[in-house]
Amino acid sequence: MTEVLTPADLSRAAALLRAGELVAFPTETVYGLGANARDGRAVAAVFAAKGRPSFNPLISHFPEPEAAFAEVAADDRARHLAARFWPGPLTLVLPRRPESRIDPLTGAGLPTLAVRVPAHPLARALLRQAGVPVAAPSANRSGQVSPTTAAHVLAGLEGRIAAVLDGGPCEVGLESTVLDLSTPRATLMRPGGLSREVLEAEIGPLAVAGEMAEEAARPSPGMLLSHYAPGLPVRLGARDVAADEALLAFGPPLPGAGLVWQLSEGGDLVEAASRLFAGLRWLDEEGGKRGLNGIAAMPVPEHGLGAAINDRLRRAAAPR
Ligand code: TXA
Ligand code: MG
Repeated sequence: MTEVLTPADLSRAAALLRAGELVAFPTETVYGLGANARDGRAVAAVFAAKGRPSFNPLISHFPEPEAAFAEVAADDRARHLAARFWPGPLTLVLPRRPESRIDPLTGAGLPTLAVRVPAHPLARALLRQAGVPVAAPSANRSGQVSPTTAAHVLAGLEGRIAAVLDGGPCEVGLESTVLDLSTPRATLMRPGGLSREVLEAEIGPLAVAGEMAEEAARPSPGMLLSHYAPGLPVRLGARDVAADEALLAFGPPLPGAGLVWQLSEGGDLVEAASRLFAGLRWLDEEGGKRGLNGIAAMPVPEHGLGAAINDRLRRAAAPR
């Protein structure tokens, strides 16, 4: 059962989020499906609830710009735009700070993070009370349109999430504008609630990342591919492990591996998803130090979050 909470139940919603539960909440753009961004299992549960076939990077939401800039490195452009448009329907993609404790799954393993300070008063109050960054994609099942009322959220996610905080209809009704500032040339990744013209008036001409609309508005797999690729080659569906390979295990580890990262001993796909990006990174670093020449990845079943895990593993293993 999904609890329907009112603004009077704000502290309950905040406590659920802190405890790793999923809570949908209103922003000025659309309803978000919130999870504690520091908790990999909670973030993995978001992908499971939405039925997303792959791990798209999620936006982390904060009550104040300073809280966002504690997790990402902001340059002058970012500070200027934040001062001008936050709180509001603008998401900034910036390099993640090395000390950030946002779970790697939130950013889908990328070296950048998308951050935003929403303008909805209830969203900000919730974020303040929760006291943790909140990862939130739009609160719809994958392939459905973004919800702008609590009833829309329930139509797609009833029984799949702990609660929805009902704050009435969203004002903007269109997702936030996503602007990538992690590169010298500011790039519009997704048009949204704040127009390109308004942004260009502040920081000059923007590059535009292809023609994008709604759910398709994501960095292309080709773009993400290079980010995902570990330095060591990845071998999929491994049934054995060579002496010079590290092992990405799922279930009882194959014998003979010196360096093992366990995705999930018990075969739990949500746990495995939450440990995937951290594991690839760790095996790559440690394996490199030990002079290993590759990563052998044990097979992961293709159902549930397994499909998304395998999608990312295939990208990591793709020839480059
Ligand atoms: O208005 C909104 O932005 C809503 C509310 C809930 O805040 N959220 C939302 O999230 O629309 P979602 O997950 O449906 O869309 C997030 C967008 C995607 O296009 C994703 O590819 C992009 O942000 N994104 C997130 N992190 C990124 C990153 N590190 N680099 C590039 N794009 C990123
Ligand atoms: Mg969406």
